[in-house]
Amino acid sequence: MEQYFEKTMGPRGSAFFGFDWEFALTDSLATPTSDTSWRKVQLPHDWSTDYPVDKNAPSCGSGGYARCGIGWYRKRFALSQDPNELYSLYFEGVYMNCDLWVNGQYAGGHIYGYTSFEKDISPYLKHGENELLLRVDNSHQPGSRWYTGSGITRNVYLIRHQRLYVRTWGVQITTPEIYLSKAQVEIRTDVRGGLNAGTLRVETVLLSPDGLEVARGSASLPAKDEMTAVQVLSVAAPRLWDIDCPQLYRAVTRVYDGDTLTDEVITPFGIRKIAFDNHNGFSLNGRKVILQGVCLHHDAGCLGAAVPPEVWRRRLQKLKDMGCNALRMSHNPPDPALLNLADEMGFCVLDEAFDEWHTMKGKEFGSNPLESRGYSEWFDTCARADMTAMVERDRNHPSVVMWSIGNEVREQVVPDGWKYAQMLAGLCHSLDPTRPITQACDLVKAEPVPASTEFLQQLDIVGVNYTDRWRERTETFYEEEKIEHPDWLLLGTEDISVNGSRGDYRLKTPDSVWGRTPYYAKSLKAEKLWKFIRTRPYVMGSFMWTGIDYLGECFWPDKGASAGVLDTCGYPKDGYYFYQSVWRKDIPVLHVFPHLNLGLEKGIIYPVVAYTNCPTVELMVDGVSYGVKAYEFPNQGMSKEWPHFDHPLAPITTNDLHLSWDVPSGAKEIIAIGRDLAGKEIARQVIRPVGPAAALSVCSDKAAIRADGRSVAQLEITLLDANGSIVPDQDVPVRLTIENGELLGMDNGLANDRTLYRSGERNTYRGLAFAVIRAPREKGSIRVKAETEGLSPVTVEIAVE
Ligand code: GAL
Repeated sequence: MEQYFEKTMGPRGSAFFGFDWEFALTDSLATPTSDTSWRKVQLPHDWSTDYPVDKNAPSCGSGGYARCGIGWYRKRFALSQDPNELYSLYFEGVYMNCDLWVNGQYAGGHIYGYTSFEKDISPYLKHGENELLLRVDNSHQPGSRWYTGSGITRNVYLIRHQRLYVRTWGVQITTPEIYLSKAQVEIRTDVRGGLNAGTLRVETVLLSPDGLEVARGSASLPAKDEMTAVQVLSVAAPRLWDIDCPQLYRAVTRVYDGDTLTDEVITPFGIRKIAFDNHNGFSLNGRKVILQGVCLHHDAGCLGAAVPPEVWRRRLQKLKDMGCNALRMSHNPPDPALLNLADEMGFCVLDEAFDEWHTMKGKEFGSNPLESRGYSEWFDTCARADMTAMVERDRNHPSVVMWSIGNEVREQVVPDGWKYAQMLAGLCHSLDPTRPITQACDLVKAEPVPASTEFLQQLDIVGVNYTDRWRERTETFYEEEKIEHPDWLLLGTEDISVNGSRGDYRLKTPDSVWGRTPYYAKSLKAEKLWKFIRTRPYVMGSFMWTGIDYLGECFWPDKGASAGVLDTCGYPKDGYYFYQSVWRKDIPVLHVFPHLNLGLEKGIIYPVVAYTNCPTVELMVDGVSYGVKAYEFPNQGMSKEWPHFDHPLAPITTNDLHLSWDVPSGAKEIIAIGRDLAGKEIARQVIRPVGPAAALSVCSDKAAIRADGRSVAQLEITLLDANGSIVPDQDVPVRLTIENGELLGMDNGLANDRTLYRSGERNTYRGLAFAVIRAPREKGSIRVKAETEGLSPVTVEIAVE
């Protein structure tokens, strides 16, 4: 049995509390009995990924046909309890509606599945062996418009602290003044439990990004139960947090009773200036930044909602490489690990609280015969506390640049709906006066009933979802709002992406939710929108729906939505390169598709498309030039006097933001050559027919991982032909055998593949598959063997150190 806080080190302890839990899916609210059969699990845990999807699941297509229901968790642990100390459990997220018992005594509950919460368990603990029981009730279905996962889906920590302590989320750091020479840092510290104390003092030490002390201050406190210390410190020559260079300071807060140190907490923070302007949009540290954003749901494909931070790191790195600089946490407070990564990697974040307020939203995706359920059932009792939990937990993250109080809530049009907006906006402002709030409105210009003016007036930023949706707004986008309300701050909180299933090159695509347009026309809407935003500084930017495919919001036989530019494995689709080509100017981008294995009949002419930022691209088909093509955006007119151009003009052949050539079927080689304006080659892509599968390749992102039972290795599995090219048109079942590690999930990005994620067997999809392996707690090495009929097995070894 695990023993906690054997050695008392320092005034506060925080231990990862995710090992050695047991779980039972009982579908009953009644307390487990001796007949209940428990199985061992490790947290975070999402039981919905343990069971097959089911066409008749009450979660319906909205919830990804996932198994939900009621589950129980149990954990036995030993504690050397010090009666002078307090103990609490800090849950980063439990989906949803949970109740906790400690040694048979009720210790409280929590409803919203996305807000973090803490339970003081001191009164119920015993010295020696203790037992926790947690009931999780996710049976109110269909309860969400997307896949939620079920269970203790995020980390849990056991926290030990003294009776005089800093309240959880009780340190609030702001930077009221920032100059080149110095920045003012204000630290408010909420201290608890000082009633019977002597002389109280809070000391704050600020550490630079290199860990050097740059400021120190001390404030005395009255001996009360609840106290707040306010300190203002000065940091010379501040190193600013920015998306290109995300520098993080740390504040070390120490509480003293006389000379006795009773608490110490460390809070990372950033020094950065954000500004919002109705003419010039958003600026960071005085520089205009167009928010090139993506919306993200909280799941990661085969891992469901229990996602190790390294998985997010790999996904975010791909988004960063695409040129994305902003993330919208749609439509709920995220796993805190995701915000830590955003701070560290340099993303601006739109942190969002809710998808539903007082009025229920329908969850009818995937033919739902049941009545919808949802957060509206709890809004009146929980919304203030949940909003507070989000803002208090997240307000020190420099990445968070604005709050969203909701997404497409019905209150936009409900009489008096604006009063809820007023309440939530006011609450946000009182908890954090430094950031504006928005709500993602889909009804700004809706017919027949648009969002009410009273509602929109509550928002600092009018967030617009799908600005091009109504009538001829595909041409005019935000122009109407700008004319009618020149003072509004405008942001595209949600816009269509270049979505679809990875590598889908059907010349005519059927009418499906996520793939309505064929490959050669997929980017058109995104192109028009980008042109508008890029040339109208008053629009702050746009968050596309979505950066990454997600589970749920689908129709059977799919289990997820192919809305992203990355699939659930994190593999880029063609659309990824569209955004990279318009968002990145620092590297040449040239991405040409489709491949030459389409099996087209003889005599067919089909479009070959390039997403590129090269000034010109020439396409050679079997040695014959099909022409040099170019687009230029934004087009460079003359500078100085007529007829002066700063650089030679490219032969512009289109107003689109992609290039396209009509090519006859049957070619044996296509070469695209990207050139700069001087005619020098800067990029080249060669496409040849790919032969039959000749080998499997398995590549781990890490050669070694930590023996901590939590780190993961991510494996990219590819099917290759004899020349080492990825086979795009043949798929094989791959079987994984893992020694000394645990398979957390295996995926391939195909929405309608319903194989169990942890079965260890899965087909490749268009030549690719993906797996996540968790490290053991002992040193050694993990061996993963991948096998498929007819090809040599491949083994990779990952050191566990
Ligand atoms: C939006 C909504 C998203 C998602 C998307 C699908 O209206 O905010 O959650 O449902 O539509 O297109």
